[in-house]
Amino acid sequence: MTLIDGKKIAADIRAELREKTLQFQKRYGRQVGLAVVLVGEDPASQVYVRNKIRACEEAGIRSFAHYLPADAPQRAVEELVCSLAADDEVHGILVQLPLPPHLDAERILACIPASKDVDGFSAQNIGRLALGEEGTVACTPLGVMELLRRSKIETRGRRAVVLGRSKIVGRPMALLLLNADATVTVCHSHTQGLAAICAQADILVAAIGKPRFVTADMVKGGAVVIDVGINRVDGKLVGDVDFEHVAPKTSFITPVPGGVGPMTIAMLLCNALACAERAMQ
Ligand code: GUN
Repeated sequence: MTLIDGKKIAADIRAELREKTLQFQKRYGRQVGLAVVLVGEDPASQVYVRNKIRACEEAGIRSFAHYLPADAPQRAVEELVCSLAADDEVHGILVQLPLPPHLDAERILACIPASKDVDGFSAQNIGRLALGEEGTVACTPLGVMELLRRSKIETRGRRAVVLGRSKIVGRPMALLLLNADATVTVCHSHTQGLAAICAQADILVAAIGKPRFVTADMVKGGAVVIDVGINRVDGKLVGDVDFEHVAPKTSFITPVPGGVGPMTIAMLLCNALACAERAMQ
């Protein structure tokens, strides 16, 4: 069993990125710019946003942080996002989710042009992914693909099972694996015979948000297991996979924490640079 060290791989990517953003700056006389919008005071979102802004600084990306109060009206958030959309210094816009419940997230996200959609959440970018065309892909599933690539794990012709069909992870994950020539099955809360389907997977990606849901009997010997889950149990972070019992059966597995998690921010920075480069072409 090989542990996939997401922390190390993400650090490598961030170091490579620093070089690339410096080259961008030399070439175009300005920094890559990423705007981050946080509405309200959700503690987890505050931590995520702080980490994203720090990662930008370390990677030589200029960040534009905008904090709005939890009771900000719909119009104020839309106006802010529209002003960022029109700002040439801003190459990417990220609105941290979830938004407070009184806000219409779809309408706010619709104010982000596809060219600045660093999260890859827009219908246009998801459509491009579904068509196998170039575009921006959601950071977490993109990070999973990069973990596979850098660990030299073949996807072509292999059976991949994705647990979960969320817009942010499950769906784009399935499309990426399909585009990489895997044979893909998506399982969700209504799937019948889920354990047996998982047990056929050469590559199993768990993204359902249920602590230790994937047990050893659901995993084929020698499978690659990627755990996207981040669940807090008794103050401890645990994934969607029962790591202790599953790990010995696998060829490769990601730990939680230190697996997929660190990749998300690294891919966000990559997406910001890619948006900036496209803007300059
Ligand atoms: N909230 C949790 N994950 C994400 C993410 O990847 N992007 C945004 N914008 N918000 C999130």
